[in-house]
Amino acid sequence: MDQRRLGQGLTVSALGLGCMGMSEFYGPRDDRESLDVLARAADLGVDFFDTADTYGPHHNEELLGQFLSAGRAPVKIATKAGIVRSPGEYRRRIDNSPEYLRRACEASLRRLRVDRIDLYYVHRLDPAQPVETTMETLAALKAEGKIAHIGLCEVSAPTLRRAHAVTPVTAIQTEYSLWTREVEAEILPTCRALGVGFVAYSPLGRGFLTGRFQPGARFEEGDFRASLPRFAPDNAAGNAALVEVVRDIAQARGATLAQIALAWLLDQGPDIVPIPGTKRLKYLEENTKATQITLTDAERSTLRDAVARLPVLGARYTEEGMKGVNA
Ligand SMILES: NC(=O)c1ccc[n+]([C@@H]2O[C@H](COP(=O)([O-])OP(=O)(O)OC[C@H]3O[C@@H](n4cnc5c(N)ncnc54)[C@H](OP(=O)(O)O)[C@@H]3O)[C@@H](O)[C@H]2O)c1
Repeated sequence: MDQRRLGQGLTVSALGLGCMGMSEFYGPRDDRESLDVLARAADLGVDFFDTADTYGPHHNEELLGQFLSAGRAPVKIATKAGIVRSPGEYRRRIDNSPEYLRRACEASLRRLRVDRIDLYYVHRLDPAQPVETTMETLAALKAEGKIAHIGLCEVSAPTLRRAHAVTPVTAIQTEYSLWTREVEAEILPTCRALGVGFVAYSPLGRGFLTGRFQPGARFEEGDFRASLPRFAPDNAAGNAALVEVVRDIAQARGATLAQIALAWLLDQGPDIVPIPGTKRLKYLEENTKATQITLTDAERSTLRDAVARLPVLGARYTEEGMKGVNA
């Protein structure tokens, strides 16, 4: 798979692998299949795995640690800290205090069973901490060799500028897909001006853009999409219009909807690295083939017209989930 360049000389595969759903949020987990997915991803040239201490909590990093300790393939690990949750609860607290971040980083190193984290993000910014203090903490962890690169999630453009002035940011990770394009206004231009890479999370709209969820679909026990405004039946019915445009393009060229949604993101710039999430071999293999698709001008224009014309109904998170977003 082709490599893409984030900031500060970090290169990673054009598509990464989102590992969150292997632990929670999208229905039951299956560690055995998840470990197979990790191994197959590495075989397919996907060398950028995304996790966070809060996924599980902790289960996701432990799973990756199990995979990494088998020494199968060199992959780059991105993890995150700053969201504090109790097991089984979505309710969160944001903590970026220097003591907390240092403790969290050391715990992630242990769970991942590595000496150094390739890319370490602050998952959400803490209103109680100036971003300058947070960046100084990250710079110290980098100087000590515990992390190789620094990232931030869901920050605003002015915050990114302030942070980058303290110590270089390698990547921003924020939601970006055909149905979540707010970053195009300020964040992406700012990343480009500063030479910061952009990692697009939930690139498949948490599965909605794959056409897998019909409006009114029922979710499995523990699937947090059941609480998301965009998946509420009335909103999902309206949002299905965009999925139908993607479906038409996919059918016309013999691709899947997921592949078209990912090809669209890859087409937005060579600095964008989508990290589709899956815990299933079938979807992994399907998604990686998106890197072989180049959209035609006609397809680009159909999608540009569709996203301009069709309003997206419903917020992307609940109020609780919006804590620390665009900080
Ligand atoms: N920084 C942050 O705040 C933040 C927030 C959210 C996510 N993330 C990261 O971003 C990664 C990706 O985002 P995401 O997992 O939320 O959303 P996503 O990648 O947009 O969608 C994942 C969902 O789509 C399904 N799916 C994947 N490929 C498919 C295919 N080809 N056909 C049908 N369904 C398919 C998956 O199914 P299965 O579950 O059945 O495999 C899963 O339910 C996460 O894993 C996580 O690492 C970061």
